Amino acid sequence: MEKKLITIAIDGFSSSGKSTMAKVLAKNIGYAYIDTGAMYRAVTLYCIDNGLIDSDNVNTAQLEKKINDIAISFSVDPETGASVTMLNGKNVEKEIRDMRVSGKVSVVAAIPFVRRALVKQQQQMGDSKGIVMDGRDIGTVVFPNAEMKVYVDASPETRAQRRFDELKAKGDASITYEEVLENVKYRDHLDQTREESPLRKAEDAIVLDNSHMTPDEQNKWLLDLYNSIINRL
Ligand code: DC
Repeated sequence: MEKKLITIAIDGFSSSGKSTMAKVLAKNIGYAYIDTGAMYRAVTLYCIDNGLIDSDNVNTAQLEKKINDIAISFSVDPETGASVTMLNGKNVEKEIRDMRVSGKVSVVAAIPFVRRALVKQQQQMGDSKGIVMDGRDIGTVVFPNAEMKVYVDASPETRAQRRFDELKAKGDASITYEEVLENVKYRDHLDQTREESPLRKAEDAIVLDNSHMTPDEQNKWLLDLYNSIINRL
């Protein structure tokens, strides 16, 4: 019998490891994976490249005129086989992870019309189910009826240590653990206190605190949860 397709929403803080976990699950079960953070990052890059952002001020009047012309999609890199983010036909996967984008994305992600436009696109992408989507508001706003909702939590210290190790591995020796921790706490605060769709756990989401879990343990936990849900349908 064909397995029923469902919608899987994975929300949580930055550096909680949710994207890695979501990607592995999607691959294992043959679902599409959508990184909604990448979409907010792509709009931010568009603003930077088109002079629509100055310090922390966004030219919202201009951006609102352009928002429907900003085409974001995902494609597979023929060399690495990895999913990459495309902005108006150009592969921007590397650029959207830059510090200049990371430093501004919270401001852009707080603009109501930006959220409305991206949420609409996300809902269209998940129209036919069979999708794993990760972000901050997937279980609460984008797919409130998702059959599987996970809220990933880990202490700020654990997440800062992961981010710090990643930066060190990339050869960035200019930042201390304390600075990373401060940045993690600051971003948590912005994500949770913004007026528009703040990060919060959907009532029916299952919490995963992965502070003391290995990647393999997390992947198994997620796959087991998926199997238990699909077997009940
Ligand atoms: O997950 P990330 O760090 O790539 O997310 C980048 C930014 O986008 C972060 O400031 C939170 C925001 N975001 C959001 O507001 N809603 C989402 N669904 C996904 C990300």
